[in-house]
Amino acid sequence: MELRLGWLADVLGDSPTLKLSGQAKELLAKGEPVINLTAGEPDFDTPEPIKEAAHRAIDEGGNGYTASAGIPALRQAVATHYSAKMGVTIEPAEVIISNGAKQILFNALSMLLNQGDEVAVPVPYWVTYPAQIAALRARMTPVVPSQPGWKITPEDLERAGAGRAKALILNTPSNPSGAVYTRSELEALADYFRMTSFFILTDEIYEDLVYTDAGHVPLMTVAPDLRHRIVTVSGLSKSYAMTGWRVGFGIADRSTIGAMNRLQSHSTSNVNTVAQKASLAAFGCGAKVAEMARAFRLRRDVLVESLSGIDGVSFTVPDGAFYLLADVRGLIDPDRGSGGDWRLAEHLLAAQKLATVPGEPFGVPGHLRLSYAIHEDTLREAAERFRAGVATFGG
Ligand SMILES: Cc1ncc(COP(=O)(O)O)c(C=O)c1O
Repeated sequence: MELRLGWLADVLGDSPTLKLSGQAKELLAKGEPVINLTAGEPDFDTPEPIKEAAHRAIDEGGNGYTASAGIPALRQAVATHYSAKMGVTIEPAEVIISNGAKQILFNALSMLLNQGDEVAVPVPYWVTYPAQIAALRARMTPVVPSQPGWKITPEDLERAGAGRAKALILNTPSNPSGAVYTRSELEALADYFRMTSFFILTDEIYEDLVYTDAGHVPLMTVAPDLRHRIVTVSGLSKSYAMTGWRVGFGIADRSTIGAMNRLQSHSTSNVNTVAQKASLAAFGCGAKVAEMARAFRLRRDVLVESLSGIDGVSFTVPDGAFYLLADVRGLIDPDRGSGGDWRLAEHLLAAQKLATVPGEPFGVPGHLRLSYAIHEDTLREAAERFRAGVATFGG
């Protein structure tokens, strides 16, 4: 009998963002002077108090399984932190600790969706959203923003028929655009949400990396009346430079959290015990987080300034996260068909040893995502290479 993997093995491809970063890493390993603008993680080290707490957790023992939803002290710490941040009271039973924001999303989507359900997803989107939706045999309804700046409005949702959806995924600040919703924009969206009955997954993993004076506004703050339908997705990965520690938080109605926990208890069980105990020190590291955010803001400014005035390239200045989404449609020869962003990314890597990510997997062909999670001197050099590479690109 023929040996065949299941349907999901065919549906799930390799992560498209890894393709060019993989090639870049190969070149780097050969000693080539590649500048890598594909990074999806901070280049800073985890704050010292968290590392010290991890050492203590190992030394003190007691590192067996924990409750699947997380150690009570950490659920309590998350509840306290977000109660203050959101201005609503969050109970520990409304919190789950999972292996990064990614698992929070997968747990939530798994528990909310039935086969064939629609999930409304604003464009551009993080590449994992369509993959998780497909894995659950649900369908993605892209919501395309009609205004420049990559933020959707109630009219955009209406036009996309989002009212039919079982869930909507909002991402603020956004990967890949860096767009950050303001309070009034969220209020307008919340008015629309009140006319629907879908769940709202709000992915706020970059919440502390916001460069506007108004800062990050959690959806929960704006629409506490919708809290039974809101799943807030966040964690320590990006703001605390802890991507490898795999500590994510989900905040939702206790019945939703309970369902997510049942899935987690039968799939991965608890997050690594040492990482959980170390995470107890995280919320005391606010000053360090603010310092990293200031560094990202400076880098954002450097990149924005160095990329200004390149013919055929435009962008909206990102307000958060550490990505800039460049519109390069002006450089692409329409007669050569689709794939222009991939051709440009390959050209930049071959001709300038500059690694970037094409926009197509994020739902925006004709764009490139540039990560500025690298030192500002390297960023200046990267922008020079970008300028030179663009000038020799044949479309
Ligand atoms: C928008 C967005 N959400 C979630 C995640 C996942 O974060 P974590 O590493 O905590 O799973 C990422 C990571 O790249 C992201 O960009």
